[in-house]
Amino acid sequence: MPVSLVILAAGQGTRMNSDLPKVLHPVAGSPLLHHAMQAGRALAPERVVVVTGHGADAVTKATLAFDEDALTVVQAEQKGTAHAVAQAAPLLADASGDVIVLYGDTPFVRPETLEAMQAARARHAVVVLGFHAADPGRYGRLVAEGENLQKIVEYKDASDEERAITLCNSGVICADAKLMFDLVGQVGNANAAGEYYLTDLPELARKRGLSAGVVICPEEETLGVNTRAQLADAERAFQIRARAEALENGVTLTAPETVFFALDTVVGRDAIIGPNVIFGPGVTVESGAEIKAFCHLEGCHISRGATVGPFARLRPGAELAEDVHVGNFVEIKNAILDEGVKIGHLTYIGDADIGEYTNIGAGTVTCNYDGVMKHRTRIGKNAFIGSDTMLVAPVTVGDHAMTASGSVITEDVPAEALAVGRARQVTKPGLATKLFARLRALKAAKAKG
Ligand code: UD1
Ligand code: CA
Repeated sequence: MPVSLVILAAGQGTRMNSDLPKVLHPVAGSPLLHHAMQAGRALAPERVVVVTGHGADAVTKATLAFDEDALTVVQAEQKGTAHAVAQAAPLLADASGDVIVLYGDTPFVRPETLEAMQAARARHAVVVLGFHAADPGRYGRLVAEGENLQKIVEYKDASDEERAITLCNSGVICADAKLMFDLVGQVGNANAAGEYYLTDLPELARKRGLSAGVVICPEEETLGVNTRAQLADAERAFQIRARAEALENGVTLTAPETVFFALDTVVGRDAIIGPNVIFGPGVTVESGAEIKAFCHLEGCHISRGATVGPFARLRPGAELAEDVHVGNFVEIKNAILDEGVKIGHLTYIGDADIGEYTNIGAGTVTCNYDGVMKHRTRIGKNAFIGSDTMLVAPVTVGDHAMTASGSVITEDVPAEALAVGRARQVTKPGLATKLFARLRALKAAKAKG
């Protein structure tokens, strides 16, 4: 059955105490909103509508950054969750199949759980996702018998008896699109909060002789973020899950609790990740590659057999082919390193193409920025760049060429040539001894006053 998503993201998140809209606070390097969108993406939704409000422009931008086909609608005034869903109605008027409502601040609902809800739709017109809360607090309570849901009662409106129920509402709800918007249009605001509650839907459906059902998931999936403390909890929960998945997938993590993954990190089987490695967004590590301790990786691709670190930083656009070696205190940005390239120590490579089996000596810098524009450095295959070479871009070094240590290379070096770009050495016999004597005498004179 086709499905569309409505993601509620209009709230301010007052308790975050922040200028940033709540759904844009990051977990694992990506806004909370992206986590919710990712969970829904697994259902291959026909349409995705994000309801924005506080910080609408920024939230719209973040929505489109994740999915350029997503639609957004502004809920100018936040009058409740049913009112929020109603804003999406015009955008889904002709949608066929179901609508699933997700919250932008609830990042961890599993795709399998959403699939179970879809399956339960065969038995119920409206399906709500519930969980058994360790501390039910102010969650809405599900009044149910087995799988059959009678109604949802908001905490503010609940009797003592209802408040004793521990089966709570996650907020995720699924129904046929037409029915969903029809029922949402019927919701009133005669309740303790004076809000239009989406939680009225099961009862409204039952009044029409339709059935409502509940699907139960583990509480950890419904973890919502309302405070900075919960944001930290969410980060912890994400990392615990990501580490477990990596281990499960055949990745070696020598100290799993010190490795931080991003939402979209991909690590192949038999890769080895040392301690204290941080993944920013957009990293792929192929099978059998090794990332040693204390590396920061972002927007890069590391191929089979490559070794990186310890203490390396790969920035966006770093492409490492098979068997490349990048060692300690090396930074790579927007550069393509062909097979077998070696960059062992203390080097900056930015905006560059480096041919296969080229060796880059310690202390090499691609001087890629002239203060206004960026320029590219091109180095051929099997070249040897001597230690402490400054490559002043734009510049090209040919195949099998060499640069002498300490050279400042401002002109292209043809294939097979050796370029020397430094002052000649001058050696003065005995001069060191004379100089030391003079300096010591000066120091002694100073000490006397
Ligand atoms: C809601 C549920 C409650 C459930 C809880 C789970 C209702 C009436 N109550 O309560 O049963 O246990 O979530 O966390 O639905 N939002 C809008 N526009 C609005 C109002 C809310 O976009 O006008 C968004 C918020 O930004 C948030 C989500 O909807 O992402 C939930 O709203 P919130 O006010 O936090 O609902 P709760 O009171 O927590
Ligand atoms: Ca909430």
